[in-house]
Amino acid sequence: MAVRAIQGGCLSSIFLILLLGLGLGTHASITVYSPQPFMGTATGTANVVTYTNAAAYDSTTLNPPAIPDPRPPTAFAIQLSSSPVPGVSIPQAGHFYGFSLEFSVINQVLGLNGSFLQVPFLNLMSNLQARGGSVRVRIGGNSQETATLVQSLPDERMMEKGAPLPSDTMLSTPPLLYTPEVLYMLANISSLVNVQWYLGIPMNDTQHLRLDIVEVAESILGDRLIGFQVANEPDQYGLDHLRPITYNASDYVHDFGLVDAALRADPAKFPSVNKKLIGPSISSHWKLEDVWDTGFLDTYSTSLGTLSAEYYPLNNCARLFNNSHISVNPQDVFSSYLNHTSATSIVQRYLNSTAIAQRYNLPFVMLETNSATCGGFPGVSDSFGSALWALDYGLQLAYSNFSGALTHVGGLSSYYNAFTPPPTNQSMFKSWTVGPIYYSALVAAEVFGKSNQSQILDLQMNEDNIYTPGYAIYDKNVLSRLALFNFITDSTGGSDYTVAVSVPGGSTVTQVKVKYLLAPSVSSLANITWAGQSLGHNLSSDGRLSGPLDIQSVPCDPSSQTCHIRVPAPGFALVFLDDTNENTSEDPTAMTFPTTMRTKTLSALTVDPSVLAASNGALGMQEALGSTGRGKKWWSLADPRPGGKSQKKGRHHRNGATRDQQGSSALALVAVAFLFRL
Ligand SMILES: *[C@@H]1O[C@H](CO)[C@@H](O)[C@H](O)[C@H]1NC(C)=O
Ligand SMILES: *[C@@H]1O[C@H](CO)[C@@H](O)[C@H](O)[C@H]1NC(C)=O
Ligand SMILES: *[C@@H]1O[C@H](CO)[C@@H](O)[C@H](O)[C@H]1NC(C)=O
Ligand SMILES: *[C@@H]1O[C@H](CO)[C@@H](O)[C@H](O)[C@H]1NC(C)=O
Ligand SMILES: *[C@@H]1O[C@H](CO)[C@@H](O)[C@H](O)[C@H]1NC(C)=O
Ligand SMILES: *[C@@H]1O[C@H](CO)[C@@H](O)[C@H](O)[C@H]1NC(C)=O
Repeated sequence: MAVRAIQGGCLSSIFLILLLGLGLGTHASITVYSPQPFMGTATGTANVVTYTNAAAYDSTTLNPPAIPDPRPPTAFAIQLSSSPVPGVSIPQAGHFYGFSLEFSVINQVLGLNGSFLQVPFLNLMSNLQARGGSVRVRIGGNSQETATLVQSLPDERMMEKGAPLPSDTMLSTPPLLYTPEVLYMLANISSLVNVQWYLGIPMNDTQHLRLDIVEVAESILGDRLIGFQVANEPDQYGLDHLRPITYNASDYVHDFGLVDAALRADPAKFPSVNKKLIGPSISSHWKLEDVWDTGFLDTYSTSLGTLSAEYYPLNNCARLFNNSHISVNPQDVFSSYLNHTSATSIVQRYLNSTAIAQRYNLPFVMLETNSATCGGFPGVSDSFGSALWALDYGLQLAYSNFSGALTHVGGLSSYYNAFTPPPTNQSMFKSWTVGPIYYSALVAAEVFGKSNQSQILDLQMNEDNIYTPGYAIYDKNVLSRLALFNFITDSTGGSDYTVAVSVPGGSTVTQVKVKYLLAPSVSSLANITWAGQSLGHNLSSDGRLSGPLDIQSVPCDPSSQTCHIRVPAPGFALVFLDDTNENTSEDPTAMTFPTTMRTKTLSALTVDPSVLAASNGALGMQEALGSTGRGKKWWSLADPRPGGKSQKKGRHHRNGATRDQQGSSALALVAVAFLFRL
């Protein structure tokens, strides 16, 4: 959900006032509860975006918060245990930090159909897979409630918006029609990159449940399907007029039971209900305990595969109303994201439930989250500060025994997107925009790594100073990595800190490797780098990292077994204490899907999945340059990445591509590069 207004307890009353002020139901704009005009497919809501001044490209730059007074100590020591200590989290996987995509935008973000995939998306997922092994993506949000599977749509379209609902249901979203092609598309993506999917069952009409998505998704996605969300933020159904205003946790559990019973009534259609359902996915109107107290967990323990919640710490819905009385000044809230208290206070309401989830042997997932509802704040959600915030928040969720967190991706009208495809009518000329939150996910994938056995500990270091949090990561029971934050912006260098890390009794370390996540200021909207590499400026990314990889080696004092790690203000350091980590090798990016070929008529590249899937992962996808989809030709060329390694070993020609084809594609590449300044 991107637009729904009420999240984050303290601001809900403000929103109620806002609703009352508008005369609820009389002239409240439908925009509030509808999916936003995503990706340039505006549905009569011109108030939010026009392309070039869209929120996603907003240039509002805030002032970094003042240096705290007193300044945190800039030199301190930590002593670490080489094996896990009490309080360490449950085992975590490299897919911890994933994404939540509003159903209505998938034809912009993922592709047009099973054979027309968005290559930048594949690259973005591939970067994560190379570091964390796999990625988890949820398709859902408000638009899942009315989504209806149909056998076909005109012009072989995969999805389209249905007619708006009658005015008495004006606060619900217009129905979304889609065909099984959507599921084929997801399956095809998963055959290229290791993505697993969370889906949702529409709940707008429990009298006539539409469960076809379960049948179709199970047969098409197989083990790439994690499960089905039963209701999206049901604690807001009353306010959203999807249910009577009295709708409560017991009513939700009753509705959950209707779905469960309907699935179990038809085992031929729905063979595997067990461990496939996800609930309760509430935001912050009800308490999770309200749901647990109904007996939900015992009643549905066989069906439940994941427990879930959704949360946004603040609310920026006022911007949609142009109402200055209740609008929040981004500068006023910026500092609230830039310290460890943001993360530690968010998790408090969940600790009882993540403990209960462990007792039921169920993962607890933050299924949808981001910095603020209604698209986030300009200058906050799109700044380097939000990359540090989201990373600390994600690591704190992991430390609190969540098993995953998915940041929501809206459209052009959102500030907080991890990635934004170009407006459809510009996609021939420009390309994707990768936001700070993507860097958080990229780093998190390396924090946890590929073992699925990383346990994380909040070190509460530097006397638990809120501007300098840090975590230790134990991988397969061995202290392996440190995650160190500095939330302060101070260009003088006077607020950089140096931590003396010692591991008594640990194996002797002569040096450690360090990767930095950096930008000049927490308010920087661009110039973010991870280990020296970047995903480029707005409207210029094809989802691949570029620039020379910069991994620092820090010598350690062998006699005291102490290593001094500097963390710039602002910045984040990931310290690799073991020299064997594959993420410290020279080129951690295993495979990418180049977007160097474009034509005038197609706005995204086609990837022929059968070709890419058949290619040997070790050789790298960068060999297989995509055709335009007309000729289905494949070529083998040297890696064209800026700063990418040049052709080292002999490359194989694939699928009968001849040298002539290679030659002509190389020429085409030059021509296209000239035309589109690639
Ligand atoms: C997929 O979409 C592309 C672009 O619209 C179209 O050319 C192609 O025919 C579609 N393929 C299928 C199988 O529908
Ligand atoms: C990709 O999707 C199409 C449906 O458009 C399907 O025919 C094809 O078999 C899929 N390819 C793979 C590799 O799954
Ligand atoms: C945790 O949740 C359970 C179930 O709702 C409840 O009985 C218990 O009081 C809660 N404990 C705390 C400390 O909130
Ligand atoms: C997470 O779970 C572990 C194992 O049950 C427990 O020891 C730890 O205290 C939990 N952490 C938090 C923050 O609740
Ligand atoms: C794209 O469409 C918008 C809205 O119709 C228009 O303002 C803009 O000029 C268009 N851009 C291009 C490059 O055609
Ligand atoms: C980790 O989990 C992912 C997703 O479930 C899986 O694809 C991968 O094989 C697992 N890795 C290991 C080393 O078990």
